[in-house]
Amino acid sequence: MKGLGLYIHIPFCVSKCKYCDFYSLAGVDQTCRERYVEALCKHMCDYKLQAKNHVVTSVYFGGGTPSLLTEKQLKTIVKAVRKNFHVSQRCEISMEVNPGTVDEEKLKAIKKLGINRLSIGAQSFDENELNTCGRIHTPKEIYDCVTQARKAKFDNISLDLIYGLPNQTKESLFENLENAFNLNVDHISLYGLKIEDGTPFWYDRHKLVLPDEDEEREMYFEAVEKLRHAGFRQYEISNFAKRHKACKHNLRYWNCDEYLGFGPAAHSYFGGKRFSFKRDLKLYMDSFDENVKTSETLLDEYVDIPPQARIAEYVMLRFRLVEGVNLAKFSKRFGRSFEQLYYQKMNPYINSGHIVKTKTGYAFSLQGMYVSNYILSRIVGGDLIIPGSNS
Ligand SMILES: C[S@@+](CC[C@H](N)C(=O)[O-])C[C@H]1O[C@@H](n2cnc3c(N)ncnc32)[C@H](O)[C@@H]1O
Ligand code: SF4
Repeated sequence: MKGLGLYIHIPFCVSKCKYCDFYSLAGVDQTCRERYVEALCKHMCDYKLQAKNHVVTSVYFGGGTPSLLTEKQLKTIVKAVRKNFHVSQRCEISMEVNPGTVDEEKLKAIKKLGINRLSIGAQSFDENELNTCGRIHTPKEIYDCVTQARKAKFDNISLDLIYGLPNQTKESLFENLENAFNLNVDHISLYGLKIEDGTPFWYDRHKLVLPDEDEEREMYFEAVEKLRHAGFRQYEISNFAKRHKACKHNLRYWNCDEYLGFGPAAHSYFGGKRFSFKRDLKLYMDSFDENVKTSETLLDEYVDIPPQARIAEYVMLRFRLVEGVNLAKFSKRFGRSFEQLYYQKMNPYINSGHIVKTKTGYAFSLQGMYVSNYILSRIVGGDLIIPGSNS
C-alpha cells in the first residue's frame, strides 16, 4: 500500500495576527463551526474510494487555530478520518495549538483522541513582541501550555518561533531561543518574518522597525548555531528536531509524497495532480450541504503535473532539506541521472560554495540555504508549474 498524509484545515482564529496571511476568520460562531465540521467529514468521505489502496501515515490539523474546536468536534473529525481511510497504527497525528486556547483537561482529551504531536505557536517570549504581532497570549501562557501538554503525556512537542520581528534585536531573539530550550521541547520551527501582501504589517511596512538584510542573515546563522548546540539537528531550512522528532507530515511535502488536504485553502498532491480549494469558508460549506445549490466550483487550482515539472518540483522541495538530493533515490524515482540533468546549472553555485557535494548527492550549505529561493529559481524555476503546500 502507498503512504498518504492528510491535512485538515481549521479556518478559525480568536483574532487575526498582524503578519498572518493563512486563510482563517475571526469571530465565527459555534453553529458555523459545527456546519464546517460536517462539511469536512463529507469531503473526506468523497475520497474513501480513491484512497482505498493508501495507508495514512500522518495527519496534520493546521490552521487557523485547530485548538479552538471543542473536544466533540475534534472527535467527530478523527472518527471520520478512521472511517474513511486506512490509518497506520504508528500514524503521526499533529495539531497546531495556540497558547491561551487550551487547558490541561482539554489537552488530555486531545491526547485521548490519538493526537500525538503538538505544534505550539509561541512566536516569541517577549511581551512587547507578542503585542506588536497582535498575539492573544502572554509569555506565561506559552509556559503553561507546554507544561500542561507534558502533564497530558505528550512526548512530541514543537514550538514555532519567528525571527526578524519589528523592533526585535539579536539579544531578544536569542532569549526567545533560550526560553524554548528551557522548556525542553522536541522540535523548533524558526521562521523568518515575511511581510505578506494585504496584512496589517504590510500596510504598516514603512513604519515598522525591521532588521536590515545583514542583521536578518546574522540572526538566522547565529540562531542555527545555538539550536545545534542545544541538541536540535537542522533537517530543513526552518526546522530543527531532537533525535527521531522530525515532523513526518511536513517531510511528506518536501519528499514530494502524496497528501490530501481538506478545507478552504487546503492543497493536495495526489495521483500526479496538484490541486487546492478556494479560500472561501461559505462556498466550502455550501458545497457539501444538500439543501444549498452552488454552481461555483470549489477548486482553485488543478494541475496534472507533466514529467519535467515533477522532476523540477522534486528538486526544489528536496533541496529545502539539509539532506538535499540523493542521487540513488533520484534515479530510482525518475529513471534519469540528476547530474546529467542539473550539473551544469548547479556548477556556479558549487564553485561559490552555496551547493556542496555530499556522500549521497548534492545539498545546500548553510549560506546556500539562506538564499535557496533565488538559487532554485535559477536551477529549476523555468520547469515549475505551481508551488504550494499546506506548510
Ligand atoms: C499556520 S500558522 C498558525 C499556527 C497557529 N494558529 C498559531 O498561530 O500558533 C503556522 C506558523 O506559521 C508562522 N507564520 C505565519 N505567518 C507568518 C509570516 N508572515 N512570517 C513568518 N512566519 C509566519 C507562525 O510561526 C505560525 O505559528
Ligand atoms: S498566526 Fe495563527 S492565530 Fe494568528 S491569525 Fe494566523 S493562524 Fe490565526
